[in-house]
Order: sequence, then C-alpha cells, then structure tokens
Amino acid sequence: MSGLHVGIIMDGNGRWAKSRGKPRWRGHLAGVDSVRDIVRSAPNLDVTTLTLYAFSSDNWKRPPTEVGRLFWLLREYCRRERAELLQNGVKVTAIGRRDRIPRSALGTLEELEDATRHGTTLHLRLAIDYSSRWMIAQAAAELARAVARGTLAPEEIYPDLMDPLIHRGVPHLDLLIRTAGEQRLSDFMLWEAAYAELYYTNTLWPEFRARNLVAALSEFGRRKRSFGGLLKIEPSVKVS
Ligand code: IPE
Ligand code: IPE
Ligand code: MG
Repeated sequence: MSGLHVGIIMDGNGRWAKSRGKPRWRGHLAGVDSVRDIVRSAPNLDVTTLTLYAFSSDNWKRPPTEVGRLFWLLREYCRRERAELLQNGVKVTAIGRRDRIPRSALGTLEELEDATRHGTTLHLRLAIDYSSRWMIAQAAAELARAVARGTLAPEEIYPDLMDPLIHRGVPHLDLLIRTAGEQRLSDFMLWEAAYAELYYTNTLWPEFRARNLVAALSEFGRRKRSFGGLLKIEPSVKVS
C-alpha cells in the first residue's frame, strides 16, 4: 500500500439534519452513506490509507441519547458493510481508546477488524473515542517506562523515537480534510499532521461524495510540499 494517506474530520451531520428539520441523529445516519461512497472510491483515487474521525473523546460530552445512536450506527455499519469491505480488500482497524466503547459495538468492531485483517487494497482506520493528545501521552508513557527500566536515557528522546510509537507502521498523513466549514483540528492527528496538507470545505459531511474527494485531491496535487527544505535546487549563479 504505497498510495496516499488521507484523514477526514467528518463534520456537519447535525447542521445537515437541522437544515432539513430533522433530529441530529438523522444527520449521522445520512453520514454513513458518505462513508460508504468515500471508502468505495478511495482506492481508485490512489488513496491506500484512510483515517476517518468518527467519534472524539470529547464527543462523550454530548447527550447520552446521541452518543447511544452513534455507537448503534457504528455497530450497524460494521455488520452491514462487512461483506462488501471484505470483497473489496479493505482492512479495517480502529484507533483510539477501547475501554469505554459499549460492549456490543466493540464486539462487532473487533470482529470486523479480525475478518478484514488481510485486506490489501485500502487500510481504513476508524478513529473512535479518539484523542490525539491521549495517543501522544500514551507514547510518552511508553518511553517513560523504558526510562524507568533503565533501557533509555531521557536525552535519547527525540521526535524520531516518538514517531514510530505514534505512527505504528502507518504512512505519514498526506492530506487532512475537514468538512462543514470549521477550520480546526479538534484533537485529530496533531502529531501526524506535522506536514500534512490541510483542506477545508463548506460541504457538510452527509453531502460529501467521491466528487468532493476528487476536488480535494486535485487541490492537493497543486500544493507544493517541501517539508522544510527547498523545492528544487536553484540554478547556480554564474560568477564571471
Ligand atoms: C460530526 O457531525 C459527527 C460527529 C462529531 C460524531 P456533528 O454532529 O459535529 O455535526 P455539527 O457540527 O453539529 O453540524
Ligand atoms: C470533531 O467534530 C469530531 C468528529 C468529527 C468525530 P466536533 O464537531 O466534535 O468538533 P468541534 O466541537 O466542532 O471542535
Ligand atoms: Mg461538529
């Protein structure tokens, strides 16, 4: 899998529902259609890793009925999409905390992870009960344990050492998309976004389709990425 890694902050479900006079959860339900469409189209657009922000650790602050619906939807997604994901060679993994996910949703999620583990077309990462700061703190704790054991000196801690503990073999993030007009990261992939291209669109997530991903990717193609270096070697000045 050597294509692009795209991350998406799928925002705007509530606004989509409100604008139609529907309850918020109908927006989440409609958002599942967008997930399906994007997952189907990603491999054809050279996206081989797709990280979708589905539920943030701060989303626990929402009313329990909305939270309950979201985890119900997650379970239904895992059940209903399983056959197609398998057939299309999609490997699904969840990132984030697992200890607070309702048991039935976690069970179906882990079954899906197990069933799809050999998928090679697309790595779909679902960020659930996810907090980037929490992930970074976990990596720091891992290093702290090595220091406590005496196998690592604090002076040896550099970003390069931390990097694999956060990336866990997943390629660096190339493009980070946020829908619904907000221009913030909301605790999503803070470390991984170090050199990602950021793309914001006013389109609400339930309306986001393959054509919108194509637009984001073509904008990405026009960006110049130099990772702190220089884009190309300047022609040397002739000194006569
Ligand atoms: C994003 O849509 C979905 C989740 C956070 C789970 P929102 O529910 O945040 O929608 P808005 O921002 O209220 O429109
Ligand atoms: C971020 O959206 C989380 C997800 C998309 C899952 P939020 O709607 O929760 O973020 P804020 O509150 O606008 O920052
Ligand atoms: Mg929102």
